[in-house]
Amino acid sequence: MVDQGNTWVIPLGLGRVKFSFVFLSNTAQLDDSPVGATHTEAKGSNVYSTRAHNPCRPARGIMARAGRRTLMSTRRGFFAQMGAAAAVAHVLPEAAYAQRAAVKGAIAKDMVWLNANENPAGPPACSLDAMRAVLAASGRYHYNEFGEIYATMAKSEGLAPEQIVAGSGSSEVLHTAVDLFTSATRPFISVSPAYEGPRDVARNLGRPVILTKLREDYTADVRKMAEEADKAHGGLIYLCNPNNPTSAVTNAQDVDWLVSHLPANTILLVDEAYLHFVERPDVKSALPYVMQGKNVIVVRTFSKIYGMAGLRVGFAAARPDLAEQLGRMALNVISIVSARAVVAALADRDNILRERKAALVKTRRELTAWLHDRGVKFIEPNANFLMIDTGRSAREFITTMPTLGVAVGRPFPPLDNMLRVSIGTDADMVKFREVFWKVYKG
Ligand SMILES: Cc1ncc(COP(=O)(O)O)c(C=O)c1O
Repeated sequence: MVDQGNTWVIPLGLGRVKFSFVFLSNTAQLDDSPVGATHTEAKGSNVYSTRAHNPCRPARGIMARAGRRTLMSTRRGFFAQMGAAAAVAHVLPEAAYAQRAAVKGAIAKDMVWLNANENPAGPPACSLDAMRAVLAASGRYHYNEFGEIYATMAKSEGLAPEQIVAGSGSSEVLHTAVDLFTSATRPFISVSPAYEGPRDVARNLGRPVILTKLREDYTADVRKMAEEADKAHGGLIYLCNPNNPTSAVTNAQDVDWLVSHLPANTILLVDEAYLHFVERPDVKSALPYVMQGKNVIVVRTFSKIYGMAGLRVGFAAARPDLAEQLGRMALNVISIVSARAVVAALADRDNILRERKAALVKTRRELTAWLHDRGVKFIEPNANFLMIDTGRSAREFITTMPTLGVAVGRPFPPLDNMLRVSIGTDADMVKFREVFWKVYKG
């Protein structure tokens, strides 16, 4: 990485051609944190209020809870036995990244997983019912249903069907956008640190990568990114809003400035994976720019607030001509099981989003108040995770906390003293506070 004033320019990695094979080793070169077993599954506890008549509310009762626990522990046992991380990491970016928050040796059965920004609530009850209902028919592709399924996804955000492209998680559409809209002369431009997936695709394809420094308040410097795109006569600007890992946001004024100052041949790719968790009124979705026909692609996922990380559904929203290009590169339709889960959740979208956000905000506020009372610094969070300034290298926390039963986020250079912690259930956060404090006090 070459530091050029306010910008880091990453030299192209020669020999990183077949990205599905070199993905793990490539990221390991970039980040030398120890590699251990991984786990990206959500915990099964139910923290949300229920209403019996609504199919989207979680099932009540001992049997429902016991059933879920049995399923979870069986799957965990399976992955632990496989020593699964190495086996799957080359195709699953977040799994590969999560594993860098090393969990070495035997994994405690009651490990609290705060390392992958998952939603401990899991899929809504109505989605679980919809999936059960379609399982026996999953021997077929169900191609004929997807027009309607994708139209439902589009409509949920006020978009037309020709303005969206669904993917296997938002990862698929992010990767496609990077592949299509960067080239040997058209760089990938972002901030450091940001979510690594799109950046690593660019690197693995041998595309130039330009990472600009965050401002003092950890927000993205939109002017700097536009400047870089201008210098390169075009590029793809990746803006993660809220940003993973900082949980900081780019406000609507800055996004608006960036959209109206996009240089020629430049596309703005806005990743809104965590937008549903934002409370600040000055932060807005970039979807209106898509509707206005700007050079803007917005990416959304069902992995976070909807609790469907394992179901792998996301979408890109873009002007029809851009969406058409992205669509041509799509792997295929998404899984019918996942699609039915999404359609069921969207039928109760407003309630689901409201309740889940309220639960997250409550737990997030309790955590920030606890940190504040103890004089522990952190970046003001806007997503379902936050970054804590440990005051020393965060590596000690990243490696020690899992041995005490709490898996936390991976290293995010250059923020070496920062620890990323996902917000789990209230019970998870009780354990987090106990273990964090033990390590913090030394
Ligand atoms: C900012 C951001 N974008 C995209 C993704 C990929 O998520 P998925 O492929 O599950 O939609 C993640 C994963 O954690 C993320 O943090």
